[in-house]
Amino acid sequence: MQHRIFSKRVSRRQLIAGAVAGLGTVAAPGVMRIAAAKSWRTGIPFSLGVASGAPRSDGFVLWTRLAPEPLSSNPETPGGMSGADVTMRYEIATDPGMTKIVRHGSATAEQAFAYSVHLDVAGLQPGRSYWYRFLSGDAVSPTGRAITLPSLGSALRNVRFGFVSCSNYEHGYFSAYRHLTGEDPEFVLFLGDYIYETIEQYRPIVRRHSDGIEAATLPTYRNRYAQYRLDPDLQGLHAQVPAIVTWDDHEVQNDYANKWSQYFDDPAQFLIRRAAAYQAFYEHMPVRPIVSRPNGPLMRIYDRFTFGDLIEISVIDGRQYRSREACYAPPNKGGSHLETNAGCPERLEAGRTMMGFGQEAWLYAGLAHSKARWNLIAQDVLMAQLRIKRDGSDAFSTDDWNGYPANRQRLLQHIHDSKVSNPVVISGDIHSFFANDLKLDFDDQASPVVATELVGTSISSYGPPYDPIAQALPDNPHVHFFDSRRRGYVLVDLLPEQMQARMRVVSDAHDPKATIATFKTFAVEGGRPGIVEA
Ligand SMILES: [Fe+2]
Repeated sequence: MQHRIFSKRVSRRQLIAGAVAGLGTVAAPGVMRIAAAKSWRTGIPFSLGVASGAPRSDGFVLWTRLAPEPLSSNPETPGGMSGADVTMRYEIATDPGMTKIVRHGSATAEQAFAYSVHLDVAGLQPGRSYWYRFLSGDAVSPTGRAITLPSLGSALRNVRFGFVSCSNYEHGYFSAYRHLTGEDPEFVLFLGDYIYETIEQYRPIVRRHSDGIEAATLPTYRNRYAQYRLDPDLQGLHAQVPAIVTWDDHEVQNDYANKWSQYFDDPAQFLIRRAAAYQAFYEHMPVRPIVSRPNGPLMRIYDRFTFGDLIEISVIDGRQYRSREACYAPPNKGGSHLETNAGCPERLEAGRTMMGFGQEAWLYAGLAHSKARWNLIAQDVLMAQLRIKRDGSDAFSTDDWNGYPANRQRLLQHIHDSKVSNPVVISGDIHSFFANDLKLDFDDQASPVVATELVGTSISSYGPPYDPIAQALPDNPHVHFFDSRRRGYVLVDLLPEQMQARMRVVSDAHDPKATIATFKTFAVEGGRPGIVEA
């Protein structure tokens, strides 16, 4: 392992000690009780753990949510809480034992947001780890780790991170999250389908969503997030590894696009549901309290993170602003379906957008001005062209970037014209590993490769049938690898001259004690877009 710029993080043993401390209402030695301190006679207020995210060079966002009854079904008392905002105390230290405290103060659990805390901390040193905890009355949260970004332009030799997507609680255990925690990444990118709003009706169920109904309202979305956060593997990942997050469809509804539901719901009604889903996402994620605070059905989550001179990550929202899915009318399903060029010319229209034109302009300007050696675009769905046979004709999915080829073309042309340094797209959604070259013209063998795409498989969600996609690979020569049969994540080690991506797989997502192994390793060489097997 080469030199790592971030300071040493909490050990597994220390993490477990911190987590155990958070499981009880134990008094914190030497901590002054604040006047508004609450006595927690019942329940564990920090039952959902802690998380950090949205790092900047001088700070980050710290998250928790007070929930002594985390799966409360009473909409009037989310998490078993009632009454006004709750003020609590927080501490930030430079050591995992919380002995060298460099910052403390008060934080507010907001009644309007299910008693969640989004504490935006500034004024810290760049490029290092910090540890933090919350204290409320006689209760102490688990200890978590946060990072500040290295200063803009500072030399960074090496960074390790993971990217994950698609953790369906009913489809399996979250062993992949546990193993990722053990890999010691500096941060984790969540690319969407963090929860599933659905109830599984056809495939094997390993453990059930607690309420047995599809989430569609604020209380039911809240319960879904709470149930997922009670999982010790996910809670452990959040405690130790800072999160950078975007979403996909299942945080709201399968295959939705902007205000259009897959069930052809009235868009005005669907926006009410979207507002509830976005609010619950906000309430459970370590996102910025000002920028990302939801406003009805609107919530900004696209964002940019720059790690010294090494890497800039543009995090994209692929759902909120997109054009309606092509050929959105019965007998098609409202969401994903396969379309031929002759059968659905709308798919090819130049005015269609996946990102929305405001986000497109923001992304193109950021990419053009980036001085980072590597430029990642972190987003929800498959970007490479995927030509699939339907009734003997070539067809394309309408739900991923294949449904928005004009936007894909604008983006890749911009990357090419702006000479973006080492562009790499990372994607989720499809519950499969892919390693792809992204070409200016996918149908022209001589067209240049302008970027690379890595797609991570799901944490636990069942994959699509292997054979139809495997059989289509000869028609998609830019796809160098595909496999939908394994569950896991991608672990990236980034150096100035090379990106190495290990596809890590669990032995069995139905086994809570599943082991981990490397399935395939790919690399991207600096200055040479395109994927190579390492
Ligand atoms: Fe998914």
